[in-house]
Amino acid sequence: MHEHDAVSSTNLLAARLPAWHAVRAESQTAGRGRFQRTWVSDRGGLWLSAVIPITGGSPKTSIVPLASGLAVCRALRALGVDWIRMRWPNDILVNNRKLAGLLIDQFVPGLLVVGIGINVSNRPEECDQALCGQVARLADLLTPVPPLADVMRHVLTSLEESSKELEDNGPANLLRDINALWGNNRMVQLDLDGPVIKGEFVGVDTAGRLTLRSTDNTIQFYEPHAVRLLREIP
Ligand code: BTN
Repeated sequence: MHEHDAVSSTNLLAARLPAWHAVRAESQTAGRGRFQRTWVSDRGGLWLSAVIPITGGSPKTSIVPLASGLAVCRALRALGVDWIRMRWPNDILVNNRKLAGLLIDQFVPGLLVVGIGINVSNRPEECDQALCGQVARLADLLTPVPPLADVMRHVLTSLEESSKELEDNGPANLLRDINALWGNNRMVQLDLDGPVIKGEFVGVDTAGRLTLRSTDNTIQFYEPHAVRLLREIP
């Protein structure tokens, strides 16, 4: 475990570390979100990156990012957070507000850096007004709010357990639990880096591909890297 005060991004520090090392920082000056977005990382939140080994070329590899989202959900549930759901691929929402997000980077073969941001008692809306009404924090969901060290311990233990579960038993059980976390089927719009299509999100298949029911009732599968953005639509 490598703990720091302020860093640019914990994912970038973790890039140089071996498997099963993790980096936590009190704050990030250049916290990174998906699609080159900035991730507000003020003091009081959990900003954590864990280095997870993956076996190259294994079909299980594509499941690791989703399994990491599941692991964070399990940890948050164990801390007492109810009504949690995931939005593909691994946003973690409570009451449609974002409680946590994951950014998975691969800097070297065989290792994934799983970056996890969880709003705990930080105040993201004060840092960026565009986040007003968009974010959830553990401090507003749990009394008393758990110390950062407890949240971190739960998350790292859960990540290790899901990684072992994938290694020992394959993806079937993890996928069942991941698919149970999307909530009700929803209409979504997929940006395929150019074409935009609409349909009903019905989960992920055994290869981790996003599964969509089109308006003509046919089922389509999309590789995660082919989908630039998923937006839930009314
Ligand atoms: C997202 O939802 O867009 C992903 C957000 C991921 C944020 C975490 S905080 C720890 C790690 N370091 C970063 O710079 N980003 C991730």
